Amino acid sequence: MVDVILGLQWGDEGKGKIVDFFAPGYDVIARFQGGPNAGHTLYVKGEKVVLHQIPSGIFHDGLINLIGNGVVLDPVTLKKECEKVAAFGVDVKKNLFIAERTNIIVPTHRALDKAAELAKGDEKIGSTLKGIGPAYMDKTGRNALRVGDLLDPAFDTLYAKLKAKHLQLLGNYNFNEDISEWEKEFFESIAFLRTLNIVNGEYFINQKLAEGKKVLAEGAQGSMLDVDFGTFPFVTSSNTISAGVCTGLGVAPNKIREIMGVTKAYCTRVGSGPFPTELFDATGEELRKVGNEFGATTGRPRRCGWIDLVALRFACMVNGVTKIIMTKSDVLDSFKDLQICTAYNVNGTVTKEVPYQLSQANLVPVYEQFKGWSRPVSECKQWADLPKEMNDYLSFINQYLGVEVKYVSNGPGRDQIIFS
Ligand code: GDP
Ligand code: IMO
Ligand code: MG
Repeated sequence: MVDVILGLQWGDEGKGKIVDFFAPGYDVIARFQGGPNAGHTLYVKGEKVVLHQIPSGIFHDGLINLIGNGVVLDPVTLKKECEKVAAFGVDVKKNLFIAERTNIIVPTHRALDKAAELAKGDEKIGSTLKGIGPAYMDKTGRNALRVGDLLDPAFDTLYAKLKAKHLQLLGNYNFNEDISEWEKEFFESIAFLRTLNIVNGEYFINQKLAEGKKVLAEGAQGSMLDVDFGTFPFVTSSNTISAGVCTGLGVAPNKIREIMGVTKAYCTRVGSGPFPTELFDATGEELRKVGNEFGATTGRPRRCGWIDLVALRFACMVNGVTKIIMTKSDVLDSFKDLQICTAYNVNGTVTKEVPYQLSQANLVPVYEQFKGWSRPVSECKQWADLPKEMNDYLSFINQYLGVEVKYVSNGPGRDQIIFS
C-alpha cells in the first residue's frame, strides 16, 4: 500500500521534516512531482539540510528513495545534492533510484523560465527560476528529454535538437544571456547521473508493492499551487494533489491508503498570487520573524497570514485527506489572539467555497477570534500537555474540516512532534 504526505497550503508546510519523521515506518520514499523548486528542510544530527530533488527519506539507512516519473529533474542540482548527502555518509548508489521516464531540466529551460518571467513584468508568477514551467511544457508538448534517454547513444543529438528549439523561443524574448557555463555543468552532471540507479519506475514500485513493501509518497509544493486546482495562473506546473501520486509514480488509485495533509498553524506563501488571509501589518511581520519565514530554495521572504479554513477545506476535498498534521504550532506561542478564517466575503456575498478566480475576486476574509496559549508548546511532550487554548483552536479546525489534526509539530527537530 501507498501512504501520501503532501502540503495543503501554498508550500513550505514542513513536509520534509514530516516525511523524515514517518520514514522509518516505510520501505520506499518516493517523490511524485515537482523538481528543484522544492526546498524540504530536515535536521540531521542537529545539522540543517535542505533537499530539492532527493526524497526526504535519504538519511534513513536501508530505505529506498525513488525519484518518480512525475518529477522534473535538474541533473546539476541532483549532483550537488548527492555530494551534500554523501558528506553525511549516505551511499546514493545504494539507496537512490530514478525512474527512466523522469523528465530532464536542461539549461535552456532555466533560461526560458527567466525570460518568460522578465517578459511578464509586474504580472510575473514569482517562479523559482529553476526551469519548472518550461520543463513541464516540454513534457505535455512532447518534446522533453527523459532520464532513460541518457542511455541512448544519440543523446547529444537529441539534446542539440531540443536546445535549437529553445534558442528559437528565446529569440522571441530577446534573451541574450550566455548559457555556456550552465551547459558545462549540465554535461558534467549527466555523466554523474548515468552512474546512478536508473530503473523502470512503474515496474520497480509495483514489484515492491507486490512484495508487501510500504511506500510513502512525498509531495512537493502545496495543494493551492496545483496546476488545476490552485490559484491559477499563480501556480506551479504539476499536479501537487494526491491524484498526482498515481500519474507521478505509476501506481493505481486503489493502492493508496492514508493521505496525510500538512498545514502550518498559520499560513504562508512565496511568490505572487492571491493570498486571502495575508497580513501586511506588524502581526504579519512578527509571524515572519518568529517563524523564520524565508524561502528554503530562493531565500525570499515568505508572505504570512492567518490559517485559512476555506482553502484548507477545499484542499482536504480535492486530496481526500484522511489525517492532518499541523506544523509550526510553536510559532504562535507569543500571540495574544489568533484569527481563523472561516469564510470569504466576495463582493458582499459570504461563501465557504474557493471562488474560480481567487486572484480577481474582491475578497475580504471573515475571521473567528481565538485566545492564544501564551506559553511555549515546544516544551509539551505529549498530547495531554497541550494548552487548553490550543485544544480549543484544534477542536474548531477539526470540526470545520471534518478531518482530524492527529499530529502537532512543535519545533523543527526530527522528534518534535506530538500525536493524539
Ligand atoms: P517544506 O517545503 O514543506 O518541506 O517546508 P520548508 O522546509 O520549506 O519550510 C518549513 C520550515 O519550517 C523549515 O525551516 C523547517 O525546519 C521548519 N519547521 C518544520 N516544522 C516546524 C515546527 O513545528 N516548528 C518550527 N518552529 N519550525 C518548523
Ligand atoms: P516546497 O516543496 C513554496 C511557488 C513559487 C511560485 C510558484 C511557481 O518547498 O513546498 P515554479 O518555480 O514552480 O514555476 O514557481 O510556485 N513554489 C513554491 N512555493 N514552496 C515550494 O516548494 C514551491 N515551489 C514552487 O514561489 O510562486
Ligand atoms: Mg519548502
